[in-house]
Amino acid sequence: MPIGLVNMTLTIVGAGYVGLVTAAVFSELGNKVYCIDVDKKKVEGLKKGKVPFFEPSLEEFIKRNTQAKRLFFTASYAESVPKSQIVFICVGTPPKENGEANLTYLFSAVEETAKNLSGYTLITIKSTIPIGHEGDLEAIVKKNAKAKFEFAASPEFLREGTALEDTLHPDRIVIGTASTKAQKLLLELHAPISGERIICDIRSAQLIKYASNSLLATKVSFANALATLCEKMGADVKKVLLGVGADKRIGHSFLYPGVGYGGSCLPKDVLAFIALSSHFGYDFELIRAVDAINNNQIESFIVKIQNALKAGGKNGKTTAGKELAVLGLAFKPNTDDMRDAPSIKIINHLTGLGYKVTAYDPQAMENAKKVLPDIKYAKDEYRAVDGKDAMIIITEWSQFANLDMDRVKKLLRHPIIIDGRNLLDPEKIQRLGFKYVSIGR
Ligand SMILES: NC(=O)c1ccc[n+]([C@@H]2O[C@H](COP(=O)([O-])OP(=O)(O)OC[C@H]3O[C@@H](n4cnc5c(N)ncnc54)[C@H](O)[C@@H]3O)[C@@H](O)[C@H]2O)c1
Repeated sequence: MPIGLVNMTLTIVGAGYVGLVTAAVFSELGNKVYCIDVDKKKVEGLKKGKVPFFEPSLEEFIKRNTQAKRLFFTASYAESVPKSQIVFICVGTPPKENGEANLTYLFSAVEETAKNLSGYTLITIKSTIPIGHEGDLEAIVKKNAKAKFEFAASPEFLREGTALEDTLHPDRIVIGTASTKAQKLLLELHAPISGERIICDIRSAQLIKYASNSLLATKVSFANALATLCEKMGADVKKVLLGVGADKRIGHSFLYPGVGYGGSCLPKDVLAFIALSSHFGYDFELIRAVDAINNNQIESFIVKIQNALKAGGKNGKTTAGKELAVLGLAFKPNTDDMRDAPSIKIINHLTGLGYKVTAYDPQAMENAKKVLPDIKYAKDEYRAVDGKDAMIIITEWSQFANLDMDRVKKLLRHPIIIDGRNLLDPEKIQRLGFKYVSIGR
């Protein structure tokens, strides 16, 4: 049932994670929403209620609002932009080789929007884009449109896996625009949604996004550096971070060690922020260190696996022929997103060293097969570990915390577990007779 107080007509450009969730939520709140994508196959699927990725509850939201004729999918800008008061640009901004954000999709989406403008329209950028492109965007629209328009930046903070909840109940809604008319429109649209309103200029809004993601990455890298130190000092990183995070000024969130951060946002936004800072004449050494620690984390995890297996041969590291079960491929639980997942680098490294890998993930195996085509995939956790020399946990799906460990022990050729997410209880696992290696303890 719509609980909306507003009834606007909106266009959402880009039917990816951000675009689809935004379209689902604004239509749920009573607005008439058109969602455009250049990928015609995706659009056809969405018209039939087929969501192209796994995100809890999204399919229900989309089906409900499509049936209620509040949500429409199209590949045509002409069908929706002229009717819309606000156009949200939600296309991807992937990294270029040098770390900068690739803005090709953004420029093309703004150009197509411009060609179809009719009457005053607020073009709101939700994609994460670097500071300093306001002039370029205005020039594109002016070249292609006579109608009145304004720009705003309203960066997105949703987390895959809890995207709907995050969008309906965000911590904050950032509205970046110098125009009071644009501010009013966005405030009105967001009225049914909770969260602090941060009203600012476009550049500050865009900087909030890069600074937030870089600070989250900093917490993860800090926890990973601390874990390395704990191993050297004989301390337990879990207990240390429990104590550190108990300070309300610090908090527990994102303060956990593992195989490093991954996914479609943190790695690319960290690199883009380093490039962006440098472009403006500032060497952001702190964030460069965050990135370096994250890369090292993968290397040191590989060494842990090699040491745990105690393979013989040259340097004690010859591993050819050893068979490993990898549990978890997605960059985090509750998603099938494999973009920049640490599992890709780890598995490629392992297979390069001569290990044979059989993997299992509850949701991400179809996507994983596209980027890791040469490994084996198992139908479930138990089939994955059957006859293997060790079990490796890379993604902390809750079902891996609840495995029947007696059964796992019987199935493994050697009872060795290397836990990249500190998911299991060391005492319990060791009591069962496993050799157990985790991070920072
Ligand atoms: N995924 C997240 O968790 C997340 C969270 C916050 C912010 N962001 C940011 O939001 C933006 C979008 O991310 P995403 O993960 O949703 O991307 P995505 O790759 O999942 O989706 C982008 C979609 O845009 C479509 N597209 C590309 N060019 C187009 C065009 N000219 N017209 C219409 N459609 C076009 C693509 O076909 C694709 O379906 C990025 O800047 C990202 O950094 C993402």
